[in-house]
Amino acid sequence: MSPSTRALFEPLTLGPLSLRNRIVMAPMTRSRAPTGVPTAETAAYYARRAAHDVGLIITEGTLVDRPSASNDPAVPRFYGDDALAGWAEVVRAVKAEGGRIWPQLWHVGALRSASNPWRPPAPFESPSGVSKPGRESGVAMTEADVADTIAAFARAAADAMRLGFDGIELHGAHGYLIDQFFWAGTNQRADRWGGAGLAERSRFAAEVIAAARRATAPDFPIAIRLSQWKQQDFPARLALSPDEMAQWLRPLVDAGVDVLHCSQRRFWEPEFEGSDLNFAGWAKKLTGLPTITVGSVGLSGEFVAAFGGEVSQPASLDELLRRLERGDFDLVAVGRALIPDPAWATKVKEGRFADMGTYDRSALATLY
Ligand SMILES: Cc1cc2nc3c(=O)[nH]c(=O)nc-3n(C[C@H](O)[C@H](O)[C@H](O)COP(=O)(O)O)c2cc1C
Repeated sequence: MSPSTRALFEPLTLGPLSLRNRIVMAPMTRSRAPTGVPTAETAAYYARRAAHDVGLIITEGTLVDRPSASNDPAVPRFYGDDALAGWAEVVRAVKAEGGRIWPQLWHVGALRSASNPWRPPAPFESPSGVSKPGRESGVAMTEADVADTIAAFARAAADAMRLGFDGIELHGAHGYLIDQFFWAGTNQRADRWGGAGLAERSRFAAEVIAAARRATAPDFPIAIRLSQWKQQDFPARLALSPDEMAQWLRPLVDAGVDVLHCSQRRFWEPEFEGSDLNFAGWAKKLTGLPTITVGSVGLSGEFVAAFGGEVSQPASLDELLRRLERGDFDLVAVGRALIPDPAWATKVKEGRFADMGTYDRSALATLY
């Protein structure tokens, strides 16, 4: 092992879960599941990364059982016997390589993709029927819709535990359904699912966490991914101060979440003036929970520009290691660097930095 990267290869225990190191594969949608069923190719793709020193895999977003949870038929479902059998095979393949794996449970809410013309059999659903202020998209959820959606997340959590997954991640970031409840720009409800403050607008996420907890076990790891930024409004921010961030996160902690996955596009960006702590650093400081950082680890450019065609070069891990060694966060999620190079973590472990390649979006053409 390269001495300089030792902190990334320290083991970590999260309740019943032992991780061999701090490297997490970030959830990345690949749209490679025809009819919503993960394939043998999907299982081999995740197992290859488990075999190459990724400590924890968080799967691509996979859909909870609501008719309009997605607008892409090639995103894998997390319901139905066929899809769950496919996921069981993914778990088996990853475990055979000594890996650990969580599914990322997802509902897009009002955020339909402009590039995909496919539409689900029911209208898009969200807190207030808007994907951002002034942009209508689908319908506002009724009380029954909200209850059914919480139940769908809980069923998925129970299925994850039954299939042998090591925990779950709820997708509460990037402007999708759970985030649409957090954000005042998309949550204009006057009932108990809305409200002027972040604490009130965290209620939906908290109820999802509590239901997932009841459906699993007291020590089954439950994480939630969060972001200030929204795809539909990159500069948007939910919490403008540490105090507001505490109001946002406290209900989630009280509901029983175990890990906060703090999504930034560039992990080194400070969250608030007067401190160099990033989002994961503040979330850990405010809650005491383990946190995951993410955003351009090992690469020179961030992922939205990469979708636009920018090529990212390999970049130093020194700043990441400085923050990890300081204890700002516990785990480090790596996205794009792991797409063209399943052995990225092994190369870091062995100090083979000269062997690191670039990332460009053409790497998405294959599921290797
Ligand atoms: C192809 C692709 C698909 C993605 N799909 C998801 C997803 O399903 N869920 C999610 O939370 N984030 C998704 N993301 C965001 C990544 O998890 C990660 O946060 C982002 O790429 C930044 O990390 P990176 O700079 O290491 O790539 C995706 C990113 C890419 C490049």
